[in-house]
Amino acid sequence: MSDPLLRVERVSKSYGDEQVLREISFEMDRGDVTVLIGPSGSGKSTMLRCVNRLTEVDSGEIYLDGERVTGPDVDVNELRRQVGMVFQDFNLFAHLTARGNVMLGPRQVLGLSKEEARRRADEQLALVGLADQADSYPAELSGGQKQRVGIARALAMEPKLMLFDEPTSALDPELIGEVLEVMRDLVERGMTMLVVTHEMSFARSVASEIMFLDGGRIVERGPPEQLFERPEHDRTATFLRRITQLHS
Ligand SMILES: Nc1ncnc2c1ncn2[C@@H]1O[C@H](COP(=O)(O)OP(=O)(O)O)[C@@H](O)[C@H]1O
Ligand SMILES: [Mg+2]
Repeated sequence: MSDPLLRVERVSKSYGDEQVLREISFEMDRGDVTVLIGPSGSGKSTMLRCVNRLTEVDSGEIYLDGERVTGPDVDVNELRRQVGMVFQDFNLFAHLTARGNVMLGPRQVLGLSKEEARRRADEQLALVGLADQADSYPAELSGGQKQRVGIARALAMEPKLMLFDEPTSALDPELIGEVLEVMRDLVERGMTMLVVTHEMSFARSVASEIMFLDGGRIVERGPPEQLFERPEHDRTATFLRRITQLHS
């Protein structure tokens, strides 16, 4: 039996008096797509950020592929090479083209030659449907295209795990579909993905497991059919009702 790809054990985190994560535990196997849902402020982003050490846990442990992620002697750069992250607001460098943005990590972190990095960038841009936008600057791209560059940039590092933090929340409605399509593609290619999203029909169709977070706790978790059809907790049902009204 091999280790799960990601193991989160009793992770807690506070900011001042506010406890944001309360003993969160879960595991993901290779190829799993786990979707985190929950109201604003419930700790979803904080949970993701703990996995790649953008945020430090107060207590608990996180393991990636059997290796401890938490702890002072971890090589954080190596960790972030293995864990790709896609943010709500893209975080692209405005002075670099799409290709330049995707090449940066392979060049600077992996130490690939310019030619190799360029080849890898073009390959990843093609996979997200942007082969012909490689020379465009972020300002020349739509939000959906920018986010696809963000995904290509993360994939160019050949991560073991991808984190998505509301990747479509900043997009105009008509641009959401193209990003979800790329993510769906990635699921089909077997990528392990931990996703925060309010796109419930997407979550329902791709998730191996949904976790509903509220007040820093996993209130309820399960396969999508169970969570959407037969939520056990009132809070889950209420949240799902609100979110599907907002997004339909
Ligand atoms: N760097 C920070 N400093 C202080 N408080 C923070 C910080 N990051 C998040 N918080 C607080 O932690 C809580 C959970 O935030 P977050 O994880 O971003 O929730 P979500 O992503 O579910 O909306 C919120 O109340 C937020 O204000
Ligand atoms: Mg958030």
